Amino acid sequence: MGSCRQIAAQLVAPGKGVLAADESIATMSGRLEKAGVEATAENRRRYRELLASTPGLSDGASGIIFCDETLGQEFADGTPFAQAVRALGVLPGIKVDTGAKPCPGLPGETVTEGLDGLPARLAHHAGIGAAFAKWRAVFVIADGRPSAGAIRGNANALARYAAACQEAGIVPIVEPEVLMDGAHAVERCGAVTATVHAAVREELALLGVDLAGIVLKPNMVVEGRDHPEPVSPERVAEATVEVLRAWPAELAGVAFLSGGQPPERATANLEAMQHHATPWPLTFSFGRALVDPALTAWHGDPALVEAGQAALGERVAANAAAVRRRARLQPV
Ligand code: 13P
Repeated sequence: MGSCRQIAAQLVAPGKGVLAADESIATMSGRLEKAGVEATAENRRRYRELLASTPGLSDGASGIIFCDETLGQEFADGTPFAQAVRALGVLPGIKVDTGAKPCPGLPGETVTEGLDGLPARLAHHAGIGAAFAKWRAVFVIADGRPSAGAIRGNANALARYAAACQEAGIVPIVEPEVLMDGAHAVERCGAVTATVHAAVREELALLGVDLAGIVLKPNMVVEGRDHPEPVSPERVAEATVEVLRAWPAELAGVAFLSGGQPPERATANLEAMQHHATPWPLTFSFGRALVDPALTAWHGDPALVEAGQAALGERVAANAAAVRRRARLQPV
């Protein structure tokens, strides 16, 4: 447990966030093809090596999340990914859920799977160097949704995952994501996020999960993608922090997902959060908002590796700078 607390603190260390590069094989293949790159295991490997070996990455990133496939792969020089990123000063993490699947009994809703055999998989991941893990539960806002059943089932799975991780000495990133899909107002997103978090807290407590040894990865509280009026960063920050206040002070930290927000908006919202005094750090664990510009710049061309890395480096630096504002706004 002690080491989980230490690793969790390292993940949310002042001025740093986590890079999510753990798209499943299917999702990553789709994104590569969209960028004009053939979806092979070798191209997924090349892309992840490009991201992980970005010069200066450890200045703003404490960790990188990979999927199973990548953690079993090696850098071009033959060093396994986990060892290679540790040598670069970044902690390796692993997505261990097996995806959001249709939930029996709840048409149109999902439950995230992956608990079968999890302790053995975690022992294997720890053995090859993983320091932390990720599990994402997904909630859609619609008429009567998310249902109480979907919230309870996903919260219970998140807690079982988190308890298994801590028993394996791996820090669980606990990710309940309320999606931006829909035309709902920011207030609805806030109410749903608060209800989901309450269930997650209850289930974590029932299984004795140590909150000082987890990182919470929530959505920011924003309006739905189809809502006519985008709300300001100040409003997003206020609404998000209001929901988060229910988490006890011992929580190690909060690292937001970007959820499909444009990269600059995610950064502006993160920056606005820093103006609120909270007992836990508020940082980033973005996927698309960090890596999309890099994939676009590289698009599989070996001559453009540096351009891809520059694009990632720029987004990481901008988000790290946003988080660093906290120290100036709230001197300890
Ligand atoms: P996005 O930032 O693209 O939402 O991805 C974060 C993540 O890890 C999703 O599980």
